[in-house]
Amino acid sequence: MIPQQRSLSVSGATGVSPGLPAASSGRMPVPLCGNLAGRLPRAAILALLVAVFVIPPSANRAVAEPADTETPPDVSAKSTGARAIPPSPKYYKGRKIADTMHFTGAEWLTRESREREEDCTTMLAALHVQPGQTVCDMGCGNGFYTLKLAELVGEKGTVLAVDIQPQMLSMLHQRAKADHIRNIKPVLGTLVDPKLPTGSVDLILLVDVYHEFSHPEQMLAAMRKSLKPGGRLALVEFREEDPNVPIKPLHKMSKEQILKEFPPNGFKLVEQFDKLPWQHLMFFEPAKTELNDADSPGSRPGARPK
Ligand SMILES: C[S@@+](CC[C@H](N)C(=O)[O-])C[C@H]1O[C@@H](n2cnc3c(N)ncnc32)[C@H](O)[C@@H]1O
Repeated sequence: MIPQQRSLSVSGATGVSPGLPAASSGRMPVPLCGNLAGRLPRAAILALLVAVFVIPPSANRAVAEPADTETPPDVSAKSTGARAIPPSPKYYKGRKIADTMHFTGAEWLTRESREREEDCTTMLAALHVQPGQTVCDMGCGNGFYTLKLAELVGEKGTVLAVDIQPQMLSMLHQRAKADHIRNIKPVLGTLVDPKLPTGSVDLILLVDVYHEFSHPEQMLAAMRKSLKPGGRLALVEFREEDPNVPIKPLHKMSKEQILKEFPPNGFKLVEQFDKLPWQHLMFFEPAKTELNDADSPGSRPGARPK
């Protein structure tokens, strides 16, 4: 059995604090060995006691249990001047929201075996991207798909590459520069706002990212607003239904769960592609409901589909 690779890759994926160096980002446990107390001065022992009993558990957990902290990344409100970001629900319609994959694990995204494991070429072909289109690679990471999409939309097209970790965008920038690609616009989003222009995107591609959204409703509402008439969203998630897909359960989604989350947020399922080895590929369009005009799905409690 292939090892659960996301479990390796996300071992550093705590609630992300972009900007922290790797050593303090939760990847390395701190060893306490030998008869430490006998060798420490009194002040150090006091500091140790304060750390253990006074610092809240979430702070300790960042060092001791890097894989599954529950605190989502809180990156952008201050740095971008965006409006305050409400706390994450942590669970959404019965699903536990996964932690964000930390940028220090980005190498996993460009691993040599990815094409064989995920059949990326077939997935891209199923999107039917046209030259000249405006395509968004939502949660682009270090740009594995962004670069390929840039080629597909051609010189007259644009790829909006959105991520919440500036380090991911910086890696993408380096890769695009090395390949002399000029039709990519990196966008630093926030947890609730991908900062996309309204009514202007032909296709939003989400590969292995939606399950990480700390604020799914806000992100769905913002993406819906950004689509052109006739625009689509392509959702790619590891199949939870399939025990042979070697990914941690928290980073997989079932079709049933996806359909619990998208339609109530104003998206209708328009197509499914079931030929990928590990992933679902599901296409959604904005449903013609009153949600189309609402700022947020929860803002019209009385609204009913027409
Ligand atoms: C597992 S990686 C996938 C990267 C890329 N889609 C790929 O398949 O190579 C998930 C990415 O989504 C980003 N992400 C998580 N929440 C996000 C949000 N609310 N808006 C934009 N990006 C987000 C993370 O920072 C991370 O780079």
